[in-house]
Amino acid sequence: MERYHTGIESPRGVWWRPAHRTEKIWVSVAFAWCMVLFAMMPIWHLKGGQNPSGIRHRVDPRAFQDRVEEFIATYKVGEDRGFPIVEPPPGSDIYLLGRMWSWTPILKLRKGATYTLHLSSLDVNHGFNLHPFNVNFQVVPGYDYGLRVTPTEAGDFRIVCNEFCGIGHHLMLGRVIVVDEDAAVAARTGGER
Ligand code: CUA
Repeated sequence: MERYHTGIESPRGVWWRPAHRTEKIWVSVAFAWCMVLFAMMPIWHLKGGQNPSGIRHRVDPRAFQDRVEEFIATYKVGEDRGFPIVEPPPGSDIYLLGRMWSWTPILKLRKGATYTLHLSSLDVNHGFNLHPFNVNFQVVPGYDYGLRVTPTEAGDFRIVCNEFCGIGHHLMLGRVIVVDEDAAVAARTGGER
């Protein structure tokens, strides 16, 4: 008579033998590492350098736009293709508005000076990406993000939108100019003036 294999009988094999010592060690190592990574999630959330350095609060997008326009009117020093170039004093609150599909204004900042950069959007989510650096930030309508920033390099940089925001997303470029004031003074005293 044919024998049927049921779940009650032990199948052939070696799996029920105790694990080898080395296997136990490796399982312990893997488990310990899992716990380390698990602990890193909350620890990094509190300690990691990726966290925004400043304040955040709700803002009416129209009110933010008004504030940006006031900021532009106060510190405007020039224009580039219709976009105002704004040079705020070091240490001040500076404003950048993302909208479909531009960043306003063009910020002219001083190397080594610290500013509080207020970022917000007028319409939809945008992504602030300072090219070519790995500086990324979500710009969300209705929220004012005040980030403390200190430019460490002089140059002419671009802001790229890295959050898909519609048909003109790829055209959404901005500009940040960082000037090295010490070098500029040295150049001036060197004969220009
Ligand atoms: Cu704004 Cu993409």
